[in-house]
Amino acid sequence: MTYDFRITAADPATMYRDLASALEGLVSGETDAVANMANAAALIWETLPELNWVGFYRNVEGELVLGPFQGRPACIRIKFGEGVCGVAAQTRQVQRVEDVNAFPGHIACDSASNSEIVVPLVRDGQLIGVLDIDSPRTGRFTEGDEAGCARLGEILSRVL
Ligand code: SME
Repeated sequence: MTYDFRITAADPATMYRDLASALEGLVSGETDAVANMANAAALIWETLPELNWVGFYRNVEGELVLGPFQGRPACIRIKFGEGVCGVAAQTRQVQRVEDVNAFPGHIACDSASNSEIVVPLVRDGQLIGVLDIDSPRTGRFTEGDEAGCARLGEILSRVL
């Protein structure tokens, strides 16, 4: 079997719709969380332009621990409330940060990151982890990206 998900769409809304259906297709038949996180990170990395890091931090006994990702090696453990990922975990609210250098307590794993979006993944009232997407371009993530990434988070929450 080959997986050839090359998604090119003229407008972001179509691109996110295609990305969401490709993600559904990739993860819906599989129950292994590591496999699903690994494929999701690869799919997002291959699809969204201008990224330098995409991946997961898992909630392991109240601490965020690095999961499957694409990009440079990253911080392994992040406490709830620390940095963009930790605030997303604590508040369970999507964090869309135009300029990470202006975010109090931002954790600079990769100095190439300038903007970031972090989506909390919640199932049955439990925080499973977060999806973290970083860009080298300040202000890379729009409201449309936030809506699209939140949709990806809904799909992932069901299979992690
Ligand atoms: N910048 C993140 C840390 C994770 S890495 O960017 C991969 C933060 O402040 O939460």
